[in-house]
Amino acid sequence: MVFFRPQPDWQLPERQITSEAAFWNRRKFLRSVLGSGLGLTATTLSACQPPRTLDPNLEATLGQPLGSLATDSAFADAGRPPTPQAYASSYNNYYEFGGTKRIWPNAQALPTDPWRLEVTGLVKNPQTYDLDDLTRRFPLEERIYRFRCVEAWAMVVPWIGFPMRRILEAVEPTAAAQFVRFTSYYDPQVCPGPAYGFALNLPWPYVEGLTVAEMANELAFFAVGVYGRTLPKQHGAPIRMVVPWKYGFKGGKALVKIEFVAQQPATFWNTIAPNEYGFEANVNPAVPHPRWSQATERLLGESTNLFNWETQPTVVYNGYGDYVAHLYA
Ligand code: MTE
Repeated sequence: MVFFRPQPDWQLPERQITSEAAFWNRRKFLRSVLGSGLGLTATTLSACQPPRTLDPNLEATLGQPLGSLATDSAFADAGRPPTPQAYASSYNNYYEFGGTKRIWPNAQALPTDPWRLEVTGLVKNPQTYDLDDLTRRFPLEERIYRFRCVEAWAMVVPWIGFPMRRILEAVEPTAAAQFVRFTSYYDPQVCPGPAYGFALNLPWPYVEGLTVAEMANELAFFAVGVYGRTLPKQHGAPIRMVVPWKYGFKGGKALVKIEFVAQQPATFWNTIAPNEYGFEANVNPAVPHPRWSQATERLLGESTNLFNWETQPTVVYNGYGDYVAHLYA
């Protein structure tokens, strides 16, 4: 992902492969000793992909059960089995907490209670939501979405949350509002950022943006949970964006502010490397990243060798063209 690496992120440096290998070996050992699975629901794991035993330290980060939910039948099957949570919740991009995929221990420093999410800008009814509002104010549903990272790895995630348009309806943007700026939590005292041993002047806080029309799209989703529980901190608790037809970097985590604005906002990756990370960033196999092809994707897997992960062709709009292609006609 990051421009300051000389190779795509899936070509891990040797030191990182070693620590990852040690990590997976520990998991294998724990699995053989403990032999028990996490009680994931039938909807989150298919029969052909048995539950994996989680590292108990990881399991302790996974949040509280969210109870019974409405599952939107249109999004109950992503066409691939959901990725085991042991993988998805321990292989994360969250640069506020480090520059590797293994930030989940660091991310536990994110302070999520109390929380305030301010929705402001060109709207008729500005709102501020607290933690309870986020899980009680809007009916929660489960949506199993394909997820495609710009780094050419992919997964399938059972998010829990509510459509973004619920917030649009609540705040009523004015006619002047064309774009939406989403700002993530950032406190330099809490977030060490990528520790590469040299100074990096990154444009914190992490900001992402959509058009108002994209935010109003049926697919655009705010996740407050995943795999049946509240969102773990490594996934961006207590609320993050999920826009499954776009590359994963468009999904800002731990949102503190949503602002309706007239002009396209400056965003984090687009500011750092505009030639590599466009504002629109729709998944498109025909448009290679300047440093790697986007024609195929690797499905997040257990092997320590990423090149052993199953490869699939990338599909335009991540396969969600029926929902979103009209936005770009
Ligand atoms: N949001 C914030 N605030 N900081 C980040 O570094 N990384 C993005 C996105 N949202 C990121 C972020 C990237 S590059 C990806 S691929 C996804 O989060 C990863 O989400 P996950 O770790 O929940 O799988």
